[in-house]
Amino acid sequence: MCGIVGYVGDRQALEVVLEGLRRLEYRGYDSSGVAVLTPGGARLVVEKRAGRIENLDKALAAEHPAGIPGTTAIGHTRWATHGPPTDRNAHPHLDATASVAVIHNGIIENFAPLRAELEATGTELASETDSEVVAHLVARAMPAAGGDLAAALRQVCGRLEGAFTLVVAHKDEPGRLVAARRNSPLVLGVGKGETFLASDVAAFVEHTRDAVELGQDQIVEITADGYTVTDFAGTPVAVSPFRVDWDLAAAEKGGYPYFMLKEIQEQPAAVADTLLGHFTGDRIVLDEQRLDTQELRDVDKVFVVACGTAYHSGLIAKHAIEHWTRVPVEVEMASEFRYRDPVLDRDTLVVAISQSGETMDTLEAIRHAREQKARVLAICNTNGAQIPRESDAVLYTRAGPEIGVAATKTFLAQVVATQLVGLALAQAKGTKYGDEVAREFAAMEAMPELISQVLGVVEPVRELARDIAGSKAVLFLGRHVGYPVALEGALKLKELAYMHAEGFPAGELKHGPIALIEDGLPVVVVMPSPHGRPVLHAKLLSNIQEIRARGARTIVIAEDGDTAVRPYAHHLVEVPRTPTLLSPLVTTVPLQVLAAEIAQARGYDVDKPRNLAKSVTVE
Ligand code: M6R
Repeated sequence: MCGIVGYVGDRQALEVVLEGLRRLEYRGYDSSGVAVLTPGGARLVVEKRAGRIENLDKALAAEHPAGIPGTTAIGHTRWATHGPPTDRNAHPHLDATASVAVIHNGIIENFAPLRAELEATGTELASETDSEVVAHLVARAMPAAGGDLAAALRQVCGRLEGAFTLVVAHKDEPGRLVAARRNSPLVLGVGKGETFLASDVAAFVEHTRDAVELGQDQIVEITADGYTVTDFAGTPVAVSPFRVDWDLAAAEKGGYPYFMLKEIQEQPAAVADTLLGHFTGDRIVLDEQRLDTQELRDVDKVFVVACGTAYHSGLIAKHAIEHWTRVPVEVEMASEFRYRDPVLDRDTLVVAISQSGETMDTLEAIRHAREQKARVLAICNTNGAQIPRESDAVLYTRAGPEIGVAATKTFLAQVVATQLVGLALAQAKGTKYGDEVAREFAAMEAMPELISQVLGVVEPVRELARDIAGSKAVLFLGRHVGYPVALEGALKLKELAYMHAEGFPAGELKHGPIALIEDGLPVVVVMPSPHGRPVLHAKLLSNIQEIRARGARTIVIAEDGDTAVRPYAHHLVEVPRTPTLLSPLVTTVPLQVLAAEIAQARGYDVDKPRNLAKSVTVE
């Protein structure tokens, strides 16, 4: 959940690293810091501050007005796990002689005994973090490792439990950085006469699009001229280089005040690009996914595992996959999955949905599933991330980089990607004829235009948002695929506007939640189509009347031309008519706008909500 950058080259490294940190700040923003190796290897200059990178910038300007000369540096932006976000706990951490600097992402689970061991032999630790022990252990391991930083780090990694990406600099090795990774992301950028290390490619994409994904339990040494990768035993390993398929413009705000607002606008393209090339005229083709037709035919049960917004896309997928294939689908929060002994075998397909491909809960869930012989198909937005790497198959969403912490365009892309999987399964199992599959795909292809239409009419939602920004809570109701949309609307509001927000299946209302309704309470209702789901539509109409009778202020998302709902809506947001299973692609959009706008009205940073980070790489 932290952002990590390392640079060796011929430029002034401080600037390169700071720029990289700014691009990675969405991964964690409790504190940040840098260490620069001064020329000649005289010393490591460290500067670090609690709070956003602006605080670090100010400290650097005050303490080092002429900059810090040096062409090798490391930098870190933190999401605190052990120890509060203070200057002392910010990374990099130094050993007692200030020879070794370390930055870390992950959790060192056995840090307590390691710390006790260091303290027992007279080492004073300067911070409360789990990470600092590594700096001291590496420094201590150096003599036995013959002064070789990589060998010392290798030795230390053998003693660490948990998840870590570590990047280590030594004052006597100015043109070299050594890094290790286990269970946390690390990617290498290969430029001309310069080499980068980072948690993700956003940190260096402006300098090079040639990248190398590091594997599990690997050590990489970088210099300006290149890199060497070995495993933890020191044996050289083959790596797979790749070319980043997006450029810097994709990772910039492009005139929007927040990334999230840009990403909401990018949703039609995210959906269109995710569908691109997946239908040949008579069949769904998921070439990249690596499961053959027989394996799909054998599937007799599907589990969807995911977290947060991705989990909500899974709830929608259940409706589509069961409807098209008649195969039972269970949707489970990844964090719960492996702790309850789910029934899995080789005919179970586990669909793991993750934007980042790094979420530890989801990663551990798929590891558990594969141990039980189930096949795992990842739906992921990040090429080469750990979850697709550890899966039997992968289908990439092509939403482009998502920088805002709140997931938006990747959610819509996940909805269509899961439906592609559903159609591929139906095709393999013969539960849908070719022409039916073709019709479903054509309906999906029409969605980008309909999403654009919604984006064109959300201005009243903005006004409404400003109007209800002072409310103490907002409830969201839906049924069928409208229920996950209600959950997603509530999640967006919680994470961005810090308001109490809950999503309920409208049918459950009378079993308890209706007690929450009081005069003026905003309640968002996601209406089903009066054409697609007339019975549910009628039921929800009754529910709206029930809550209005108790004073609720109703905000209704309904299909264009749904005249029956008009008398009961204090605020009506009309979205174009779509097939029911695709309706979340249009009904979610106003809820994203609502949450972003309320957050802005309340004065919060929409891209970096408090306490959160974009990728959750710890359990
Ligand atoms: O990268 P992932 O899709 O695995 O992330 C899962 C959740 O952490 C993520 O969707 C989170 O809920 C978002 N911040 C919601 O906007």
